[in-house]
Amino acid sequence: MNQRLQVAKRIAWLTLWFVIFGGAFLIPSIEMPWASHSVHRAMMPHNTNAMILQDEEMDLPFDEELIADGRILFERTAGQVGCAACHNAFGTGDSGVGPYVRGVSQENILNALEGIEEMEFFDLSNEEVSAITEYLRWLGQYDAAKTLIKRGAFSPEELTVKAGHKIQFIFENADRSEHTLSSADLDLEGLALPGRKTVDYLWTAPEAPGTLTILCTDCGEGVSLPINVEAAEE
Ligand code: HEC
Repeated sequence: MNQRLQVAKRIAWLTLWFVIFGGAFLIPSIEMPWASHSVHRAMMPHNTNAMILQDEEMDLPFDEELIADGRILFERTAGQVGCAACHNAFGTGDSGVGPYVRGVSQENILNALEGIEEMEFFDLSNEEVSAITEYLRWLGQYDAAKTLIKRGAFSPEELTVKAGHKIQFIFENADRSEHTLSSADLDLEGLALPGRKTVDYLWTAPEAPGTLTILCTDCGEGVSLPINVEAAEE
């Protein structure tokens, strides 16, 4: 075969390939309802930490009103189910449905609302998204320390926190009856945990490592929760 014909054939093939596959590259940039979900999903980071807010964003002042609205939305009203249904109360993500979302960015939330199949049913206004974002940013300041009370016993039986860190204790009462927690060490006086409810308590761990105690005053003989404060290596 002569050379010219070969070159012409190659050009013809290249053009054909470009038309077929070049078109495929263009598709995702055109808004196609059936394509956009898979595209956004592919862009979702698998590493939660990658989207956690940076220190500068955490240092901005908080809007208390937005936080209060965001908390109600997150816990029960967003999309009539709330985000907690899948991400747990206070966004700890320990039920294995939705992941840990404390301190995520607005961008991360918007991507999830668009790209996560389980979340597609939400139709939130900008104001609602802003409130939820502010609530999750606020939660992001605190390390979550969670325990469950069941048949009058703590599970896990003790909690470990980092010295000097801001802590959000999360007490989930799985019993039908109310329980009461008290601790002179933590300045906690008669915190009521209604039956089948989850209650939080905000606290700052002392700088000195050691073990503190929270007492359940009505769980049974001397049922208490040791809080280990360990040195925080930065
Ligand atoms: C029906 C269950 C469900 C509900 C309700 C739900 N989510 Fe999700 N969410 C998920 C699942 C499942 C994922 C993780 C999907 C994956 O990683 O493949 C997720 C992921 C996310 C992510 C991404 C986290 C990351 O690590 O990138 C954010 C942010 C998020 N959800 C926020 C919310 C907010 C805010 C609400 C309430 C408006 C909400 N979710 C309600 C199931 C739910």
